[in-house]
Amino acid sequence: MLNIAVCGSGRGSNFKSVLDAIASGRLRYCRIVIVFSNNADAGIFEHARRQGIPVLHWSRKMYATDDAYSAAMLAALREARADLIVLAGYMKFLPAPIIAAFKHRILNIHPALLPSFGGTGMYGLHVHRAVLAAHEPLTGATVHIVDEEYDHGPIVIQRTVPVLASDSPESLAARVLEMEHYILPEAIRLIAEGRITVEPGRTHVHIRSSQE
Ligand code: GRF
Repeated sequence: MLNIAVCGSGRGSNFKSVLDAIASGRLRYCRIVIVFSNNADAGIFEHARRQGIPVLHWSRKMYATDDAYSAAMLAALREARADLIVLAGYMKFLPAPIIAAFKHRILNIHPALLPSFGGTGMYGLHVHRAVLAAHEPLTGATVHIVDEEYDHGPIVIQRTVPVLASDSPESLAARVLEMEHYILPEAIRLIAEGRITVEPGRTHVHIRSSQE
């Protein structure tokens, strides 16, 4: 069984896609053991509470020091026996001690084709506005392993989505979000099946076929 911790800051639709994939049996041998948010009112907490999943409001402001902040999350992760952390719309940077403790065991979903349209300021509709301003014919969604750099780290799954001449940032965001909801559970499935290896210096993880 793969024990998954999820971090999110907002509405939680990507988290919901993972819950649905578990409920439908598409994602097997996985369970969500805890949900963290820096925002006490986050929609992601509602989805978790409805299923009786423990939640933790965890933000830097609640702790006196950086060390106390990291230690609180690490203790909660340990108590929940988390194997994997999934950042599903998490708007903050995870502290370095957590990235180190969960090396290659943290996933992030980003609404563009990384390494393009990622990094500081590239979140929410800003991403889709930038894609439209650059007249890109294609955009997409990326799930990658988190490393110490923002929106960086080896790509697990990346899928393209067409940009239409009639698109607004909102319509493009909605089309990309549908793809996000497909690839996030897929990436978790690859990890649950033990099919991913991270090789140093590579931009993408190595994925073994299910027959290997
Ligand atoms: C998604 O577009 C995700 O890619 C980005 O933040 C958004 C979160 O949406 N990191 P939701 O909270 O999962 O609905």
